[in-house]
Amino acid sequence: MFARRAGWDLTPTEAARRLAERRARGLAVLDLSDSNPTRCGLAPARALADALAALARDATIARYDPDPRGDVSARAAIAAYHARRGAHVAPEHVVLTAGTSEGYAHLFRLLADPGDVVHVPAPGYPLFEHLAALEGVAASPYPLRAPRRGARWRIDLDAFAAALGPRSRAVLAIDPHNPTGSFVDPDDWSSLRAIARERGLAIVSDEVFADSAHGGDAPPGALAGADEGPLHFVLSGASKLLALPQWKIAWIVVAGAAAARDEALARLEFIADAFLSVSPPLARAMPALLAEREAIQRAVRERVAANRAQLDAALAGSAASALPSEAGWSAIVRIAGGYDEEALATALLERGVLVQPGYFFDLGGRDAEGAPCADLVVSLLLETRDFARGVAVLREVVADARSARPS
Ligand SMILES: Cc1ncc(COP(=O)(O)O)c(C=O)c1O
Repeated sequence: MFARRAGWDLTPTEAARRLAERRARGLAVLDLSDSNPTRCGLAPARALADALAALARDATIARYDPDPRGDVSARAAIAAYHARRGAHVAPEHVVLTAGTSEGYAHLFRLLADPGDVVHVPAPGYPLFEHLAALEGVAASPYPLRAPRRGARWRIDLDAFAAALGPRSRAVLAIDPHNPTGSFVDPDDWSSLRAIARERGLAIVSDEVFADSAHGGDAPPGALAGADEGPLHFVLSGASKLLALPQWKIAWIVVAGAAAARDEALARLEFIADAFLSVSPPLARAMPALLAEREAIQRAVRERVAANRAQLDAALAGSAASALPSEAGWSAIVRIAGGYDEEALATALLERGVLVQPGYFFDLGGRDAEGAPCADLVVSLLLETRDFARGVAVLREVVADARSARPS
């Protein structure tokens, strides 16, 4: 009856079953993995109200006159946003999508036939594999190496090159990466470009967290200097950039040598035209919303910094510590030793706190030296009081696990 690509095993996991049972019993759950800014008191309410009021006054939105690449004023504002980091982006190089996930789907349709392969970083956010599979495309992981010192993870270029095959079509890089919070190193960008050019691969880089650098300053990013390189697609969107996941406006910037770029844009436009999924009125509000970007990101960065400081203070002197990171909305809490991540997450849930175990992100259970460790991933977006409560329970659970361990 159903296609193989829709043949998922929908049986709830043990963890999902425990969570549902706890909720059904009316017991509170503090979701320390919640990375939805609108549930953490970070919705840009005034910017949202102003945007909606301006739309209500805009008589032109009564007329539907679709542009497959999306509203041109939105595309101009998005091009200007990318230009601030040294990129050469024109409005006609931008295609709007209804969320970043749709951007990925369009790109897989553009670049890969069923059975082709896209290469995705591991560890990583467990979404790309599903998005690729829905287009009949295989996602092949390439490893990121944890730093021995500092925060920046590096691409294992030898392992990446060894994983390439005749059906490889594209390589994905998350810049900065979720959940490691690491930017792609400029040297890794150069190597990826060289390999992509040699092997005829397209590069897809996901910059949804580009404005979340903890110090405020991001490296130049992949678009600066992409003009002469292989075909390069950059994804971003309102969900993370403006803390507005409900606005459902995201985009693809197409870069690379002009002839290939323009050919890709024409074909991408054809795909977008088949769906016309982006709401023109919502797109029309993007210039005004993007003008609020710095204030919105400042509030998010302050929350993340305050929670990160609390986390480090709460874990000081315990068997756990949070890995250093450059950017992003989450932290990886690492417990040295061969602890069972699922058991730790279950013990936390029994005390009313939900976290994500590291294996969910393919974190691998080994530190940079190869020693066993357990990782738990927490969101740094929560209201600071809630975060403090969750982290106090986390510390207790780590202490209990350590004392219960046979020495
Ligand atoms: C790296 C990365 N890209 C994309 C997304 C999805 O973004 P959107 O809400 O625009 O679909 C996420 C979601 O957390 C993410 O972590």
